[in-house]
Amino acid sequence: MVQAILFLASFATAALAAPKVIWDGRLKLDFPAADLDKSATSPYNAEFVLGAGQKWSEQLLFPNMSVSGPSLFDLVPSGCRKPVEVTINDKSIFAPGGNAQKGFRRSELLPNTNNGTDATVQGVTTFHFSVREDVHRPLNYSHQYEIAFIETNDFSSHVWTLKTGTSFNSSEVPAKDAKTLRLGGSTAGGKAEEVLFSVPFDGGCWHNFAIQTNWVDNTISAWYSSGYGLLKEVVKTRANNATGKGQAHIGVLKLPTPPATDLSHEGYQPSGIKEGLIYGGLFVEDCSQNGVSISPW
Ligand SMILES: *[C@@H]1O[C@H](CO)[C@@H](O)[C@H](O)[C@H]1NC(C)=O
Ligand SMILES: *[C@@H]1O[C@H](CO)[C@@H](O)[C@H](O)[C@H]1NC(C)=O
Ligand SMILES: *[C@@H]1O[C@H](CO)[C@@H](O)[C@H](O)[C@H]1NC(C)=O
Ligand SMILES: *[C@@H]1O[C@H](CO)[C@@H](O)[C@H](O)[C@H]1NC(C)=O
Ligand SMILES: *[C@@H]1O[C@H](CO)[C@@H](O)[C@H](O)[C@H]1NC(C)=O
Repeated sequence: MVQAILFLASFATAALAAPKVIWDGRLKLDFPAADLDKSATSPYNAEFVLGAGQKWSEQLLFPNMSVSGPSLFDLVPSGCRKPVEVTINDKSIFAPGGNAQKGFRRSELLPNTNNGTDATVQGVTTFHFSVREDVHRPLNYSHQYEIAFIETNDFSSHVWTLKTGTSFNSSEVPAKDAKTLRLGGSTAGGKAEEVLFSVPFDGGCWHNFAIQTNWVDNTISAWYSSGYGLLKEVVKTRANNATGKGQAHIGVLKLPTPPATDLSHEGYQPSGIKEGLIYGGLFVEDCSQNGVSISPW
């Protein structure tokens, strides 16, 4: 299957006037783990967001491609790229300024150029990523996870958030919809988040997303496919407060279970965590001129 797709991809020609890629996190097959620890060599921020004392070369794994295959947008005509697995363990406790966030377990990749006000959050941009589960490092669906989001530049809210697991404070644990991928809109101004799109988080296949933000008109739209299907629009352009700009986070942010009022510092987290999610096809394109890419060729 994967071989057949690679074969087809090698014959495909680049779409005319495709949107311009302005940040590319897709790693070549020979990309060494050690290069993730240096800002000069990693397309990701080498320091954030990790547990105190942790390094990306240890928290990021390169999964066996015979099992996961490359994701849709890793099939670039210039050569296949490889998936990455973002993992968490008991020591994945982020401690900004020495203040340990004991309520969370988190490891999240940030694009290295994405400082909160850079080109990835200007005009109209689309964040592409694919995600799939690792049967050997399953999530605990009794918890809420935030697995891709844009946090505003003042850290007060999210422009959008992709979640899975049981929503914090759910009366039913695990919730009926725990194993779904749920895209939520802006939480600016303390606004209750609206779910814009939801799909079962089926195991054994890639789930491909493209989330577009118009940073000028304050709108969102989204595309999705599973496996190697072409992306289809699943959220038509609608209002979404994007005035806070911000930084994209891709990885595992595991919330505690209640009770907790300060979720980052309180709540319950069991020990013995060995969890991860596999990502691929991470890039940002400038869509001010030319729509959105629905395939890599
Ligand atoms: C990768 O997975 C394949 C298929 O399950 C297996 O044959 C191979 O030994 C694995 N390679 C590594 C390095 O684990
Ligand atoms: C963020 O990046 C942009 C583009 O490179 C730059 O103009 C700006 O000064 C940077 N902001 C900060 C706070 O470093
Ligand atoms: C999943 O999380 C719940 C709530 O924290 C915990 O009680 C349970 O033991 C966890 N399950 C596993 C398999 O770790
Ligand atoms: C959880 O529920 C409690 C009690 O209803 C409430 O005070 C709190 O704000 C809720 N927390 C979240 C994050 O929804
Ligand atoms: C968007 O969010 C900002 C920051 O919270 C707020 O000042 C502004 O009023 C919001 N805009 C709209 C249209 O709700």
